[in-house]
Amino acid sequence: MTYSLQLFDDIITNPLKDGVLVIQLNRPNEFNALRTKLLDEIAQVLVRAEEDENVRCVVLTGNQKAFAAGADIKEMATKSPADVLRDPRAASWKVIRNFKKPLIAAVNGYCLGGGNELAMHCDIIVAGENAKFGQPEINLGIIPGAGGTQRFTSLLGKSKAMRYVLTGDFMSAKQAYEAGLVAEIFAPEETLDQAINIAKKIAQKAPIAVELAKEAVLKASDSLLESGLAFERKAFAVLFSTSDQKEGADAFINKRPPVYKGS
Ligand code: HXC
Repeated sequence: MTYSLQLFDDIITNPLKDGVLVIQLNRPNEFNALRTKLLDEIAQVLVRAEEDENVRCVVLTGNQKAFAAGADIKEMATKSPADVLRDPRAASWKVIRNFKKPLIAAVNGYCLGGGNELAMHCDIIVAGENAKFGQPEINLGIIPGAGGTQRFTSLLGKSKAMRYVLTGDFMSAKQAYEAGLVAEIFAPEETLDQAINIAKKIAQKAPIAVELAKEAVLKASDSLLESGLAFERKAFAVLFSTSDQKEGADAFINKRPPVYKGS
C-alpha cells in the first residue's frame, strides 16, 4: 500500500518508514485551520493505515508556525445549528477517535481550538519550546466542539481547564508540560524527529499488545467521555443560533474586537 501525495490537497503523507507514517497538515497560509476537507483527508489516511499491517504508529504534525489554529473560522462563520448538527466533520473526528494504533502529535507553534482537540485525540503529545496551546473558542462566542471541554478537563483537572476554556488564554509549552498535556518538550527543529523516534520504538513492540495497551489506558479516563462529548456537541450547535457567534466570527474575519450582547 502506498501513501502517496497525489490524492491530497490539505495534508502531506511521507513514505512509510520503519513502520511509522507521518501525516503533515499542509495549509500553511491559514495556520493549518481544520477545514472539512483537511479532516476528511486525515480520516481517509487513518482508515487505510488501520488496515495496513505495515503501519505501526502514526505521527501527526504541522509546521514551525502552527500545528493547527483550530477549526476553519471562515468555513464555520455562517453555519446554523442544523448545519453544525449535521456537520460531516463529525464522521472524521469519529475515525480519529476510534483509530486503534498509536497516534503521536508533534506540535510546534499554535495548537488552538480544534487543533488542540486534534492533538488531544492523539495518544502522546510532544511539543517544541515555541508551542502555544489553548481553547480560545470563547473569544468567538462559542465553546470547544470536538471534545475540548472533556479532554482538557481530564488531562488538566477542573480548575486549570476552566482557567483556559473560560478566558481563551494560551499556555506555553512549559505550562502545558507541567499541566500534563504534553509528554516532552524539545527544541522546535527537533520536535518531529523526536516524535518519530518515539514512534519507531513503539513500532517495534508487539502490535496486539500495543493496541490493547492503548485501549486500556484510554479506559482510565473514557468512562464518562461519551455523555460529555454528546452534551458538548449539542451546546456547540446551539451557540450557532446566537447573534454573538455571528459577531465573533465576523470580528475575527474583519480583524476587529467583537462586541457581544448576550443574544
Ligand atoms: C480560519 C484562520 C484561522 C482559523 C488563522 N487563520 N487561524 N483562518 N480559521 N482558525 C488565518 C487568518 O484569518 C489569516 O488569514 C491567517 O490565517 C494568518 O492569521 P493572523 O491572525 O493574521 O496571524 P497572527 O496575527 O499571527 O495570529 C495567529 C493566531 C490567530 C493567534 C493563530 O490567527 C488566531 O487567533 N486564530 C484563531 C484561533 C482560534 O480562535 N481558534 C479556534 C477556532 S474555533 P488572512 O487571509 O487574513 O491572511 C474552533 C472550534 C472547534 O476551533 C470546533 C470543533 C471542530
